[in-house]
Amino acid sequence: MYIANEKRYDKMIYRRCGKSGLKLPAVSLGLWKNFGHNGCFANMEEMVHTAFNLGITHFDLANNYGNPYNGSAEENFGRILADMRQYRDEMCISTKAGYEMWAGPYGDRNGSRKYLTASLDQSLKRMGLEYVDIFYHHVFDPNTPLEETALALNYIIRRGKALYVGISNYNSEQTAEISAIFRELHTPFIVNQPSYSMLNRWIEDDGLDEYAREHGIGLAVFSPLYQGFLTNRYLEGVPKDSRVGKGDTWIGEQLDDQMNKRLNALNKIAERRGQTLSQMALSWVLHNSAVTTVLIGASRPSQIIENAACIEKLDFTAEELDEIKALI
Ligand SMILES: NC(=O)c1ccc[n+]([C@@H]2O[C@H](COP(=O)([O-])OP(=O)(O)OC[C@H]3O[C@@H](n4cnc5c(N)ncnc54)[C@H](OP(=O)(O)O)[C@@H]3O)[C@@H](O)[C@H]2O)c1
Repeated sequence: MYIANEKRYDKMIYRRCGKSGLKLPAVSLGLWKNFGHNGCFANMEEMVHTAFNLGITHFDLANNYGNPYNGSAEENFGRILADMRQYRDEMCISTKAGYEMWAGPYGDRNGSRKYLTASLDQSLKRMGLEYVDIFYHHVFDPNTPLEETALALNYIIRRGKALYVGISNYNSEQTAEISAIFRELHTPFIVNQPSYSMLNRWIEDDGLDEYAREHGIGLAVFSPLYQGFLTNRYLEGVPKDSRVGKGDTWIGEQLDDQMNKRLNALNKIAERRGQTLSQMALSWVLHNSAVTTVLIGASRPSQIIENAACIEKLDFTAEELDEIKALI
């Protein structure tokens, strides 16, 4: 039986999610990759235990995570949780629905009340939970009225199946539009989940980070390591067991000579700061005051240990920031 480390809360930093009462760890664990049935269960379990022992209380899932079939990551997380039930109230568990999940018109990419309601019920069953802490609409759907999506999320809250509502992959304009409806309904909408990293700064161009700051909405940002580029993984080539090496990402072709030079130059700055490249990349994302938490992915426990230590150096000098800016 799993017994958590007594010192798990000694180091981790917790940040308020926007203006809500909910605090999230600066570093959270996402279960998108490496948690499906084609992975090693003992490794998944050790990753979740390692994270929790480091004060990582937030675990991010979605209905469609896992291979070889959608939902297998939630099934495995449910199995892991079976041995961690006594810590349920120390955890913040999120899931999502929005992308294609099951066959037919009700499980494809959409934001209908029909799909969102059924999907969360399925997710809860797979994870063996009565409720999730955050339920997200995974991606903006131009074909469903936003009122319907907002009402569906509000209904889910009233049924007690989720405590807070989030949206993901919504730009600032779409966020403003749905926020207005949530306000009318008094829905506890607290977080947006966009991608953001040194190599992907769209939220700055779009103004989503500024919007989140102004309106008291938290940002839980995904792929903060640009799916592993911003680590020591690819500094000297492409290892066979890496995400790019396994062909498990669409951004692999961006890893050309120019990218390799940039990553090595960033790594030099990280070394000077006494950090690894992944730690500096995470500290840089957390340096944006709009960001509540970075959702990291991992293929082994050692990566989680390395990444969680980014919180030991979150500050940057003006010179470091300029030097980084010139490279990204
Ligand atoms: N809302 C959305 O639409 C959406 C989309 C994508 C992701 N997400 C969320 O964000 C989470 C994280 O996404 P992500 O996995 O792309 O994040 P990421 O943190 O940018 O990349 C994680 C990958 O980088 C490598 N890595 C991590 N730490 C490392 C280290 N210290 N040294 C060497 N390599 C390291 C590992 O890949 P290797 O396999 O190469 O070891 C790991 O699987 C997901 O699990 C999910 O919860 C949400």
